[in-house]
Amino acid sequence: MRAAVLRSVGDTTLEVCDDVDLIDPGPGDVVVDITHTGVCHSDLSVMNGTIPQHVPAVLGHEGAGVVAEVGDAVTSVSVGDHVIAVWSPPCGGCVYCLVHKRPNLCADLQFGIMLRSHFRQGGAELGAMCGVGTFAERTLLPEQAVVRIDPSVPLETAALVGCGVMTGVGAALNTAKVAPGSSVAVFGVGGVGVAAIQGARIAGAAEIVAVDRNPAKLAVARSFGATEAVLPDDLDAAKAEMNGGQGFDYALECIGRPATMRAAYDAVRRGGTCCIVGVGRIEEQVSFSAFEFFFNEKNLVGSYYGGADVRVDFGRMLRLAEAGRLDLAGMIDRRIRLEDVNEAIEAVQAGDVVRQVIEL
Ligand code: APR
Ligand code: ZN
Repeated sequence: MRAAVLRSVGDTTLEVCDDVDLIDPGPGDVVVDITHTGVCHSDLSVMNGTIPQHVPAVLGHEGAGVVAEVGDAVTSVSVGDHVIAVWSPPCGGCVYCLVHKRPNLCADLQFGIMLRSHFRQGGAELGAMCGVGTFAERTLLPEQAVVRIDPSVPLETAALVGCGVMTGVGAALNTAKVAPGSSVAVFGVGGVGVAAIQGARIAGAAEIVAVDRNPAKLAVARSFGATEAVLPDDLDAAKAEMNGGQGFDYALECIGRPATMRAAYDAVRRGGTCCIVGVGRIEEQVSFSAFEFFFNEKNLVGSYYGGADVRVDFGRMLRLAEAGRLDLAGMIDRRIRLEDVNEAIEAVQAGDVVRQVIEL
């Protein structure tokens, strides 16, 4: 089958191959025919080493498709079911799943699937990005890493729910808990930022100001519900209008750079909430004065997979979409073939797109 493979970290292109096979599934595994997969900034972040991944590996982690095979021990899905792939599957039995009710933080399965081989090519074994590997016609997932959806849901929009939509909307609703009537700054207008803007809108924010360095993204932000959209140089003027000049109630950083993380923290008022959604490099640092935490009492919070309980929240996203309150289809600005994946990655690098979907 066809798959897009990252040979070495640092490569700027993926190798699109047609001689990749799936390894034999185990009793707890589900084989999924991937029909659609989004191209997310995190795919690029694996290529450039921001997000650690053992290689060679098939990239892609935002996908949906149809169950083609199930292992003997699988009980929750059957052949023919439509599913969304989960890159951080909750095991259902650990301290995060049961005691803290934070299943997005369960790593019991995640590290295992990240390290296991999914594919075979010639004599070599290949891994899968985040243990998912949706840049392939078929992939292998443990039962816990698929969420069944209604077959009436378009699989191309379901794919987006698997990462960017859940991450951005979930950051606004679950992590930051944006309050009705509040003011929100969203940094970055890619797939995650657009989802965060929509999450803030759904939460009933009064002002949603998007910030992006790409002027073309300002109109995009407004079309998804931002009440204002500015270039980074104009952020201070926008901030001056919030809370009598004190700043925003919330900031959602959806870029993943130290400078924009710091800018997001600075954009919120005393007592406000800065939520970091973007993923930066392990060795990069963000600095804070040792005094300012005390003095400003700001909340600084990370958001992992939108704080989601995927079994509950994927359905919430799809119901919001069905009700016309969350625009998923409008987030797709290009539909492409797997052969075009490298052009798609270039477009992500340039910051030109919201979401490109590969049709497999
Ligand atoms: N200042 C302002 N805007 C910026 C800057 C900057 N310094 N750097 C990048 N941007 C903008 C880009 O122009 C683009 O519109 O941020 C947006 C990022 O969008 P995408 O590349 O599409 O990224 P996305 O897939 O939305 O992911 C965003 O979330 O999940 C994480 O790993 C992911 O860190 C990444 C972030
Ligand atoms: Zn992603």
